[in-house]
Amino acid sequence: MKLSMRQLSQSFTQLANQFVTVQGWIRTNRSQKEFGFISFNDGSTLATLQIVYDRSLPNFDEVAKWRVGCSLTITGKVVLTPQNKQAYELKAETMILEGDSPEDFPIQPKRHSKEFLREQAHLRPRTNLFNAVFRVRSLLAFAIHEFFRSRDFLYVHAPIITASDAEGAGEMFHVTTLDLNKLPRLADGSIDYTKDFFGKKTNLTVSGQLEAETFAQAFKNVYTFGPTFRAENSNTPRHASEFWMIEPEMAFADLEDDMKLVEDMIKYVINYILKHAKEELAFFDQFVAPGKLMQLQSLVDSHIFRCEYAEAIKILEKQNHLFENKIKYGDDLATEHEKYLTDVHFKAPVFVINWPKEIKAFYMRLNDDGKTVAAMDLLVPGSGELVGGSQREERYEMLMKKMIDQKIPVSEMEWYLDLRKYGGTKHSGFGLGFERLVMYVTGVDNIRDVLPFPRTPKNCEF
Ligand code: 4AD
Ligand code: MG
Repeated sequence: MKLSMRQLSQSFTQLANQFVTVQGWIRTNRSQKEFGFISFNDGSTLATLQIVYDRSLPNFDEVAKWRVGCSLTITGKVVLTPQNKQAYELKAETMILEGDSPEDFPIQPKRHSKEFLREQAHLRPRTNLFNAVFRVRSLLAFAIHEFFRSRDFLYVHAPIITASDAEGAGEMFHVTTLDLNKLPRLADGSIDYTKDFFGKKTNLTVSGQLEAETFAQAFKNVYTFGPTFRAENSNTPRHASEFWMIEPEMAFADLEDDMKLVEDMIKYVINYILKHAKEELAFFDQFVAPGKLMQLQSLVDSHIFRCEYAEAIKILEKQNHLFENKIKYGDDLATEHEKYLTDVHFKAPVFVINWPKEIKAFYMRLNDDGKTVAAMDLLVPGSGELVGGSQREERYEMLMKKMIDQKIPVSEMEWYLDLRKYGGTKHSGFGLGFERLVMYVTGVDNIRDVLPFPRTPKNCEF
């Protein structure tokens, strides 16, 4: 019977003294004259399985030489070992070498730096840390879909190639089939995009929000969950050029409804991980971020604070002596300010709400004070800004004015304005950076270590 190591760990008592087949990779092999031990892993759990072999194997002398990284198929008897650290082991009956691994296999059984492992991104999933990170990443994605499905949200796939800049920040990767060495030009010297593949200038999406808004005006509650791309030149532990974003959008919802959804969703997925990734969380709590388990538990048990932007600025201004960037009303928060709010002042996640309109995107709804917009950022310890969201400007004239003020090309966005013309409703939504969530849950402090193959400025390996 072929089993994954996870299946075996769940039913080893029933399988005592029975023969099973497992397939995986050698983590370590300690051989002696008459017997040996292999620590074995197949990626289905963090724990390794101990394989015991001895001279009764016809190929004992070869097995004794197999190195770290070799892939094997092993059939053996499940032996209960209640007196040992591991409650069971496998006594090998046949061992087949599937793929040999020479001495220079880079992932040796010792501590490797995360920087070194980034250069081995194709092999690092075979380490404990990345094994745990990517299983939690997969479980989190599943939990997010489960949460939205349980609430009847429609999952909508926003396009990857678009002609609009959803954030209006101009941080886009262009998509073109034009020959960069022979660009077609107009009379004034500018590039003639009518000759390009789509007949116009196009780029990779920075956000699926605008498309999600159109679907919310038909299905009421929707979400996107897909890759997004930003050509911002920020080399920080929290920014990637390609990252995944979850963007719900709700018709008939205001900013308060929006924050309630963030809070419910985060608690749901963390509860899911507390239940389904106990082994991994124990690992992170012990080796990556001591106290993580308690932090996650306390988040699900408490109400997330809300703080007006103006209030946050007052709190921070008093501490300006601590900051490299002195802050005042009207400024965006830098990492050090976010950190002060979450790690020192609130000692917990916090929603910062009602931001000055000048520092937020064009689509956010203007508050009655005429100065701020109904926007919220959720800041969390360690990952900084985890969520950015807002109530959307549903008033046609107001939106048009905002677009003109912020130099958003109205001609490209007629369809977006149409939503305000034909049965538009008040509506709200947010974007949650999936990698920042994985960082928060695992305690891993660099975005490059929660993306399978990170893309950052000057780096597109693998
Ligand atoms: O705050 P942002 O730019 O908001 C939007 O894109 C809106 N359209 C969302 C919406 O309302 N539907 O991005 C949302 C979140 C951030 O809070 C952050 O978690 C993440 O996306 N994010 C990044 N994550 C990794 N690398 C980057 N370069 C990121 N930029 C934003
Ligand atoms: Mg933001």
